[in-house]
Amino acid sequence: MSVNLCNILNIQSPIVAGGMIWCSGWELASAVSNEGGLGLIGAGSMSAEVLKEHIIKCKKATNKSFGVNVPLMNVNSPKHIQVIIEEKVPVVFTSAGNPSLYTKTLKENGIKVVHVIANEKFALKAQEAGVDAIVAEGFEAGGHNGKEETTTLVLVNEIVKKVSIPVIAAGGIATGEQILSVMTLGAQGVQIGTLFATSKESSAHENFKRAIISAKEGDTMLFLRKLSPTRLLKGGFFEKIKEAEERGASKEELLEIIGIGKTKLGMFDGNLDEGELEIGQVSISIEKEMSVKEIFEKLRKEYSIAKMNIQNISDTL
Ligand SMILES: Cc1cc2nc3c(=O)[nH]c(=O)nc-3n(C[C@H](O)[C@H](O)[C@H](O)COP(=O)(O)O)c2cc1C
Repeated sequence: MSVNLCNILNIQSPIVAGGMIWCSGWELASAVSNEGGLGLIGAGSMSAEVLKEHIIKCKKATNKSFGVNVPLMNVNSPKHIQVIIEEKVPVVFTSAGNPSLYTKTLKENGIKVVHVIANEKFALKAQEAGVDAIVAEGFEAGGHNGKEETTTLVLVNEIVKKVSIPVIAAGGIATGEQILSVMTLGAQGVQIGTLFATSKESSAHENFKRAIISAKEGDTMLFLRKLSPTRLLKGGFFEKIKEAEERGASKEELLEIIGIGKTKLGMFDGNLDEGELEIGQVSISIEKEMSVKEIFEKLRKEYSIAKMNIQNISDTL
């Protein structure tokens, strides 16, 4: 692999903070970029006007590279793209949609494009569309997920062999040891969501952050397979969806239960009982709320210890 991810994205550390609805505003994005990683503003929960304000504030808070995540299924995405081009944002991560929609336009405007995929078909489609890199996101990840339910370990190992552009691993990564493990699979970087959702700079509600930190094994599960598979944290909404799915509720009924504004209610307003809480399996290994600076220090320390410990593993199999 000759193309270097950090050079493409103009960053020093191959750690991306995934764009997350209701969590990733300018404060989180700029703090991550100031640490040398790539901070992303999550446009999925913003109008075009709000996104513009976050971009302007982010530019004031950092002189480093940063980006915006645009979920393509979002009705506001054409306007998001317009604002991004006007504001000359250096990097865009597209997700949940067709990668060929805006890649050409963004690249013609000098913007680097990365697309998030959860299977081989979309990895190849994204490469064909001309993206600069892809995020391979496995089953463990928080938020929306692939229908195939391929785990990060399996997905990354496969995708790095199928594409010739850099691969960023995502899903189930919150420690330096986990970063090292996906690097050995051939990933050039990582995209982390859940851990940054609990950071001091995340705009998630404190109730949501505390619920993530106290989550135990089995407290997140993948639901809504009939609509768009989503990993949810236990709570009232989780129980309602679980009950409906177990009795074979139709798509229409599920849509009615989801209703409108449930993600904001749960993750931003902190109503853990009625709101939708999206989070990853790796919440079990998060022990406390940390600043972005503390998170980077922790990841760097763990990564370098893990790299030294690799000397102790068996030379042969
Ligand atoms: C609360 C939350 C909201 C998310 N929102 C989005 C989003 O708007 N767009 C997107 O592409 N991914 C979204 N994700 C996925 C993350 O960007 C990231 O790929 C994923 O969290 C990585 O897995 P991890 O949670 O195990 O770290 C979200 C994840 C979480 C936890």
